[in-house]
Amino acid sequence: MPARIVAFSGNTHRPSRTRTLVEAVAAELSRLRPIDLKVYDLVDAGTGIAVAGRSALPLPAARIVEAIESADALIVGSPVYKGSYAGLFKHLIDFVAPEALIGKPVVLTATGGGPRHALVVEHSLRPLFGFFSAQAVPTAVYAGDTEIAEGRIADPIVRARVAQAAAELARLLDIGQGDAVSTSAPLAAAR
Ligand SMILES: Cc1cc2nc3c(=O)[nH]c(=O)nc-3n(C[C@H](O)[C@H](O)[C@H](O)COP(=O)(O)O)c2cc1C
Repeated sequence: MPARIVAFSGNTHRPSRTRTLVEAVAAELSRLRPIDLKVYDLVDAGTGIAVAGRSALPLPAARIVEAIESADALIVGSPVYKGSYAGLFKHLIDFVAPEALIGKPVVLTATGGGPRHALVVEHSLRPLFGFFSAQAVPTAVYAGDTEIAEGRIADPIVRARVAQAAAELARLLDIGQGDAVSTSAPLAAAR
């Protein structure tokens, strides 16, 4: 069975460099393993997501949250806004059930307007997915403004990190680590 991979990018317009980056990780993963890929962004979520409760989410956004929860693995990305992940990206992730991502392999990515906020993947995205006890792969990928151009990754170092992150995700899929620990109900109950 191909692994069900959901890529979720926090971009609000297209074309998007963040979406390009998560798609690049997914393309690399698809060269390594058979995958069933679904890619979503905040454009797919539509308008009207500024609600307080999950039950009030418009259907397209609710479907994205469900897809994130039921995937075998995730590739997530956010544009950097004011030194962190985008607020609407976090807003959608806030609706994900705390126990749904336990042990789930995740690749973390972000794009920004320059090199200064490259560690957003480490100081914002990694703790967020740490909250969920997801398994974020060791290599996170950040691209600045000159490193993605015309829908392609122009920088060889970013390309190498994309390949490394995809290879790490492939290995986690092989060992089925997500299934092995996803029954940690006591952990989820403690949140
Ligand atoms: C409201 C706003 C805040 C931003 N803040 C930052 C920032 O703090 N650091 C940074 O490097 N880029 C910042 N940017 C630039 C975006 O992160 C960058 O253009 C990103 O790659 C856009 O991704 P997208 O093409 O997927 O929308 C900001 C852009 C916007 C619109």
